[in-house]
Amino acid sequence: MFAITVRRHATISRFFSAVCDESRCSMLGKPPFRRLGGPMAWSERPITPDTEGSQGVTVRPGRMKDVPGVWKLTEEVKWNKHQDMIETLFKMCENGWNIAEKDGDVVGCYLSHEFDSGLKTAGHFIVSPKMQGRGVGAKLMSKYFEEFGDRNIYAGAISPLLDTYEKYSGAPLSKGDTGGNYYGVFKNIPLPPDMEQKYHLIDFRHVDMSDLIGYDTSYHVVPRPEMLKIWLGQTTAKSLVLLEKGKIAGYGSIRPAMNGFYLGPLYAENTVGTMVLLKGLIDLIPRDSSVDFFLPHSNEAGREILKANESTIGLYDTFHKFATKSYIPVPKWNNVFALLSNECALC
Ligand SMILES: CC(C)(COP(=O)(O)OP(=O)(O)OC[C@H]1O[C@@H](n2cnc3c(N)ncnc32)[C@H](O)[C@@H]1OP(=O)(O)O)[C@@H](O)C(=O)NCCC(=O)NCCS
Repeated sequence: MFAITVRRHATISRFFSAVCDESRCSMLGKPPFRRLGGPMAWSERPITPDTEGSQGVTVRPGRMKDVPGVWKLTEEVKWNKHQDMIETLFKMCENGWNIAEKDGDVVGCYLSHEFDSGLKTAGHFIVSPKMQGRGVGAKLMSKYFEEFGDRNIYAGAISPLLDTYEKYSGAPLSKGDTGGNYYGVFKNIPLPPDMEQKYHLIDFRHVDMSDLIGYDTSYHVVPRPEMLKIWLGQTTAKSLVLLEKGKIAGYGSIRPAMNGFYLGPLYAENTVGTMVLLKGLIDLIPRDSSVDFFLPHSNEAGREILKANESTIGLYDTFHKFATKSYIPVPKWNNVFALLSNECALC
């Protein structure tokens, strides 16, 4: 079952090469995300969801036909994704989207996914730059907390928005782990000599899916079989499983983004395994492509890999995991090199 070893040159797809032509791959120093301004303390700020600027804006559930509208918003705020990824997120969280609409245009959105276990996550909160600062975001947040305020919602936020979320949720957030959103080229993976031979890398399609789901659950805690099949099976994604003595010791996935590629998840049992898997995934994309990923600060391999690539990979935002009531970290958080998604998952 695990006989097919992944080989670098044979697996670089034509599509991967096409999406990373030089003109579209942005250089380090020009991060694809926009930074945000500083906040006021939440307790000092009144909620103003119905300001004049948000009048005529309606909030409704999202549907598949909203993929282009949400992609347009995502591009406008320069989040480094791809329309394929937005479509995949819609397939994964069919009923999770809410859309702010004005005159038939999508002007805002958020994604709130509910797992069967009752766990709720939130993310992909965007208002079109031309409508920002007019109360549309306030309207979306107020509606969300009116509906789900009694739940323990897991999310991630960039630093300036933590106070705002605290204010709209109505109580101090339970803050958890932090990480960085990094972007750049992996020039050097500091693998100790001869360690690679201990492992095999194979395409995820050659692994028994129930084994992979079981392995994923050892990280994510809540089983997510459908979500995983859709995410790993996205046609433009490449997903590899790391095997040690025939047993799953990690897995990861990489796919095209607007600029370069998006890496996530990348989970592995230890530092060497992380490096072997990362090397295998990077070998699947054109050399010197830029990669975007969310790395928890506590990941040991992450620290070594960043040090070895300090001139080519940069941090452009810090993210904070939090829950609205009680944050319980996932048990293998330290083994997570790249989150699957910062919007609809625990890790
Ligand atoms: C964050 C965002 C969705 C807010 O939408 P918006 O329509 O501009 O928000 P509003 O004008 O309704 O303001 C609502 C509240 O958010 C606060 N806020 C808005 N932008 C903020 C920012 N950049 N940093 C901190 N707080 C911010 C406002 O001060 C306001 O708080 P108040 O009620 O105390 O006055 C929008 O700025 C956006 O799309 N940003 C880029 C994407 C992003 O960063 N998303 C969040 C990732 S965690």
